Amino acid sequence: ALFAAGASAQTAWPTRTISLVVPFAAGGPTDVVARSLAASMSKTLGQTVLVENKLGAGGTVAAAFVARAQPDGYTFFIHHNGMATSTALYRKLPYNPLTDFEYISQAVDVPMTLLARKDFPANNLPELIAYVRANASKINLANAGLGAVSQLCGMMFERAIGVKLTAVPFQGTAPAMNALLGGQVDLLCDQTTQTIPQIKAGSVKFYGVTTKNRIKALPDAPTLAEQGLKDFEVLVWHGIYAPKGTPKPILEKMNMAVRAALRDPDVVKRMADLGAEVASDSKLTPEGLQTWLKAEIDKWGPIIKANGAFAD
Ligand code: MLT
Repeated sequence: ALFAAGASAQTAWPTRTISLVVPFAAGGPTDVVARSLAASMSKTLGQTVLVENKLGAGGTVAAAFVARAQPDGYTFFIHHNGMATSTALYRKLPYNPLTDFEYISQAVDVPMTLLARKDFPANNLPELIAYVRANASKINLANAGLGAVSQLCGMMFERAIGVKLTAVPFQGTAPAMNALLGGQVDLLCDQTTQTIPQIKAGSVKFYGVTTKNRIKALPDAPTLAEQGLKDFEVLVWHGIYAPKGTPKPILEKMNMAVRAALRDPDVVKRMADLGAEVASDSKLTPEGLQTWLKAEIDKWGPIIKANGAFAD
């Protein structure tokens, strides 16, 4: 009887609000992606998918929270490259991304953009590089903490031009962008999902995109690589996870809801306008996400360790 009750509860899922945990501030890049998907998934699943922002420590507070949440199908997690990079950035991570989660799907890939405050005295990438090299001790670089892609991109930029700048961490790039707009910080490398409106409005200085090729949403914008930062490439990917032990039928239904959202014309248009592209089909499976996560841990680990940016 117990088994039958459990089985029918699973078939009935979902019967109440589902929480989708976002590890960064509301209004920022991850939140924008999450809310767009959640609106569409709520329609498919017939229950509200509610975005919950759990801030702190570059996304690791939220990951630890989800790792310990009830695996009952009412807590899910969306995170980006930080799910992989945190394993190298933190000496004592309170969870293991390869054993404490179930994998549902990837979602969208998002380019990044290198920006400065509007009155920063460098009008293009060569000027930026020369100015930053000459004034490194005076320049600060905003990010969303160790584990954020803004931190990863900033680190890659510092490495590429051979400087160390003063990091100014925020709990997401939404507050980091506010500080850039207010002129309190100098530089920020941030995702197009947040930066395209600011770039188009001319409220920031913009030096190029971090992708291998130019992007459709900003067709005239050069890549950093084509301007001389050879091989500079950071692309943001997103995974959707559940606590380990979440029943398989629920994971399967959730995967269907994610895929349906990624085909929803409203989601597709909003994402395209913001420079984001739906991940390729092979990544929209649990196995695709898991394999990708492992590869990303192997890719970034040595780069981060060589750079030596660690937290306990
Ligand atoms: C955010 O949503 O604030 C960003 O994804 C943070 C980051 O990783 O740079």
